[in-house]
Amino acid sequence: MTTTQDMIARQQPLSTEFGYRTTATEVLAGRDLTGTTAIVTGGYSGLGLETVRALAAAGASVVVPARRPETAEAALAGVPGVRVAPMDLGDLESVAAFTAEMREAGTSIGLVINAAGVMATPEQRTAQGWELQFGTNHLGHFALVAGLASLLQDGARVVSYSSVGHYRSPVLFDDINFETTPYDSWVAYGQAKSANALFAVGLDARASASGIHAFSVHPGGIMTDLQRNMPREELIQRQWIDADGNPNPMFKSAAEGASTGLWAATATELLTRGGIYAEDCSLKGVVANDHADLTSGGVKEWAIDVDAADRLWALSVEATGLDPFAG
Ligand SMILES: NC(=O)c1ccc[n+]([C@@H]2O[C@H](COP(=O)([O-])OP(=O)(O)OC[C@H]3O[C@@H](n4cnc5c(N)ncnc54)[C@H](OP(=O)(O)O)[C@@H]3O)[C@@H](O)[C@H]2O)c1
Repeated sequence: MTTTQDMIARQQPLSTEFGYRTTATEVLAGRDLTGTTAIVTGGYSGLGLETVRALAAAGASVVVPARRPETAEAALAGVPGVRVAPMDLGDLESVAAFTAEMREAGTSIGLVINAAGVMATPEQRTAQGWELQFGTNHLGHFALVAGLASLLQDGARVVSYSSVGHYRSPVLFDDINFETTPYDSWVAYGQAKSANALFAVGLDARASASGIHAFSVHPGGIMTDLQRNMPREELIQRQWIDADGNPNPMFKSAAEGASTGLWAATATELLTRGGIYAEDCSLKGVVANDHADLTSGGVKEWAIDVDAADRLWALSVEATGLDPFAG
């Protein structure tokens, strides 16, 4: 049984040959992924799109579940070995339909990269009534991985995109849907991103006996469609762009932003570090829950806490009716 002390030990800083500016292609250099099937959510925009391009270039077959299949087909035109299928993470029935189709096809899966996400949305609900960011970013991905669990091959990895945004909030188990607390779009994003990290902890604890490992990542700051809900004034005030619209030079390109997810998907160093949260193709340790510096690196304790991961797992089983790796 994995403990929080185990997670803290696994999370200890780890330097690698890669770094802040490493690109997706550089991480996969020399790797032949022919014969590997990967599922990449959000694989038609931003970091997911760069992830798909790099995987396809390395020979992988990639399935991209998309809530806007026509947009996905257009974005992925010319990328070899890619198939688009309809799926809306904000509707568990849609996720169930996609995973049922995959099970019927029976293809073994080597990699699931949960790159889809929404950020700082106005208050909205999923089809099943969950706060949109928690429901889409976490519960949709939980249902996806649970529905695909029987197809995950020995050695498979599941990588979930978290964010330094997890610093904003732990999972608010007493009020996940903001029914008694006033809605705050950034707290809701923080909760969802803490849930993404805890999902990796909970999944790895249950699936590692089957040779399957799970990780979460902070990709860095990258200007993509993710910021679509932020007014220009807020982007300037947070110094994400300057007054002329130029991104902060410390931001990464999309190709750089996709590297850590692919490192987590392939690095042999991580075989003994299941459930960890990676950034800049490395590990940066654990920071206290009241740590405020967003630039220091490190995962907050609440995002690798095993009790919180178990509680989130139980809630997710209840919400989806799916209990993968129950034994
Ligand atoms: N960019 C950053 O600075 C940054 C920093 C930290 C963490 N992250 C994380 O990185 C991940 C990727 O972000 P990104 O920057 O690549 O954002 P992006 O360009 O906006 O891409 C997000 C993708 O998620 C898809 N998606 C959203 N809601 C969905 C739903 N209900 N069902 C299916 N797909 C859905 C979007 O599809 P549509 O286009 O159809 O909406 C889009 O393809 C996110 O999880 C984000 O939280 C990003």
